[in-house]
This record gives sequence, C-alpha cells and structure tokens, in this order.
Amino acid sequence: MRLRLLRGNKMPRPKISIIGAGGVGATAAHWIASKELADILLVDINEDMAKGKALDLLEAGPVIGFDVDINGTNDFSKIKDSDIVVLTAGMPRKPGMNREDLMQINTKITEEVTEKIAKYAPDSFLIVVTNPVDAMVYLAFKISGFKKNKVIGMAGNLDSTRFRTFIAEELDASVNDVNAIVIGSHSDLMLPLPGHSSVGGILLPELLPKGKIDALVERTKKGGKEVINLLKTLSTSYAPGAGVAEIAEAILKDKKRILSCSAYCDKEYDVNGCFVNVPVVIGNNGIEKIIELKLSSREKKDFEESVGHIRKLIGEAEKCL
Ligand code: NAI
Ligand code: 2OP
Repeated sequence: MRLRLLRGNKMPRPKISIIGAGGVGATAAHWIASKELADILLVDINEDMAKGKALDLLEAGPVIGFDVDINGTNDFSKIKDSDIVVLTAGMPRKPGMNREDLMQINTKITEEVTEKIAKYAPDSFLIVVTNPVDAMVYLAFKISGFKKNKVIGMAGNLDSTRFRTFIAEELDASVNDVNAIVIGSHSDLMLPLPGHSSVGGILLPELLPKGKIDALVERTKKGGKEVINLLKTLSTSYAPGAGVAEIAEAILKDKKRILSCSAYCDKEYDVNGCFVNVPVVIGNNGIEKIIELKLSSREKKDFEESVGHIRKLIGEAEKCL
C-alpha cells in the first residue's frame, strides 16, 4: 500500500514509443532502458511479440538496475503523450536484397504508421529508422505535417559509429578517442569523411596511408551488408538500436550533440528540400542546427550524387503511395 502510494506520486518520466518490436525496435528499447532514458512502449501489429519483448526486457531491470516501465501493445492510441516516437516498423533487408527492394512494402507501412503517430502523438519527436531511411523519413515528414526540426532519420550516426569502429581496429586505438563522420545517403553512396575524422585530436590522414584509409571507407560503405551477410536470415540491430538511443538521449537530456542524421535540408548544402545525413546539433528542440562542412570539390560532387540517389528513391516511394 505504502509502495503503491509512493509509485503513484512519482514524477512522470519521459515516454518513448517504439513502433515495431522486431530486431531494431527491441534492441533500441534495450539500450534506452539500460540508460534509464524513459518509460518505453513497444507497439507492433504482432501484439504478443510486443508484449513478450517488453516483459522479457522489464524482467532484466532488477539485475541490471534500470527502473523504467516497459509495456507492449498493438493499440496505437497508447502512444499518446509520447515525447519521442521511433518508427522501426517495416521489413529488413535480406541477403541479396537492396534497401530499394524494400520500397513497396515499407512505403505502405510508413504511410499507415505515420498517420497514426500524427493522430495520437502530434507533439512528439519522430525518429525514423525504416529503410530506405532517407526516403521514408521524407514521407514521414510530409505525411505527419510535423515541423522539420522534429523529424529525424537515424542513419548517419550509425554509419559513423561503424567508421569509428573500423578506424579504432586498424590503429589498435581506443574507440573512445576516435571521432569520425559519415554524410550523404544511407547507401553505398554514403561519404565517410577521413579529412574530418581524428584520433585523439590527430587527423586521420596523418595517421594512416591513403590506401588503408580507402579500405576503411569502402568497408564502412558496406557496413550494413557485411553484418547481414554473416547473419544470413537476420538483419543488423545492436548498432542501429544504439544509434536510436544516442539520438533519443541527445533530445531528452538537451545534450547539444553533434551527430550525423538524416535532416531536412533546403538551402543547406544546396540540397533544395530533401532529407540527407549531415552533421546536426541535437538538443531538446530536436534538430537545432545544421552544420555546413567545407567539402572538397570531389566530396561535393559525391554528395550531390548521393542526394540525387535519395531524390530518385523519394520519387519511387511517392509512386507507391
Ligand atoms: P523486423 O522484421 O525484425 O521488425 C519489424 C517489425 O515491424 C516486425 O515485428 C513487424 O511485425 C512490425 N510491423 C510491420 N508492420 C507494422 C505496422 N504496420 N505496425 C506496427 N508494426 C509493424 O525488422 P528490423 O530488423 O527491426 O528492421 C526494421 C526496419 O529498420 C527495416 O526496414 C530495416 O531495413 C530498417 N533498418 C534501418 C537502419 C537504418 O540505419 N536506418 C538500420 C537497421 C535496420
Ligand atoms: C544497416 O545499415 C541494414 O540499413 C541497415 O544496418
């Protein structure tokens, strides 16, 4: 009774709803819970899956020491009052499949789910993960009617953490000392930027010969595929889930992190109304600033090609609506 009274009077915690309780959704929930960022609601068309994953994770709390509410449902109306909604519903890429192959099915799911998010959680921040993410985040932005600072695609920070991991491995350095950034589309046309990457403050080109850097860049571009080819029937989840938690934490704690995310760019980088991964400042207003890097003429050309690819994907997605 006394305990119930205490819990009844507790300060409200932030609430994160995650749509899709599959590999990425459940793993994002795991990282979010372990950081005690918010109460979590897993929403899936498969109600038992959402409930089962939520209960399984909740039961880890006493051992790991996190104290948040975690629930599962197939009822979208329960996302009401969410501070953040994460859209991971959709089909993952299987070996041999391109992200673009997912277009048809994921466009429909993104459309249907975004309408529900806009209806039940109109004041939330929306983090979109579903692939092809740069096109799906654009659709979610258009369909939701949310302001551009509140709609964020999770990809660039995932690609950057992969680049950071490979740099650390190559140099036998601590990942804590590696800073690196990847911009552009979340596809083989992404741009890992060695000239903007450093280890302990030392620029990467001073630490490694060009050939080695080129190999790390190529590995990063195929980072998702490398894991998927190993997993065979499953897709990536630990690093993408961590990427979601990183953005959510930056928003909820107003951290002013500089992360590469898929953000709506207009005059920035001369993109002219498209979502693309660029460095942004993330705080409690979502995307608070887009940082324009000085790119070499070669990088500018590659970036434009990347944006062209995203535009093509958006065109294909719009045809599926
Ligand atoms: P999964 O298949 O494990 O989980 C997807 C879940 O969505 C399933 O549980 C399914 O029942 C649910 N779902 C489908 N339609 C739904 C609807 N209308 N409402 C609610 N739930 C629905 O897939 P996984 O591995 O979690 O991947 C999810 C998406 O994230 C895929 O499109 C994948 O390609 C993408 N992805 C994107 C990354 C990025 O960097 N942006 C990284 C990794 C994955
Ligand atoms: C990833 O890069 C498959 O897009 C997904 O992990």
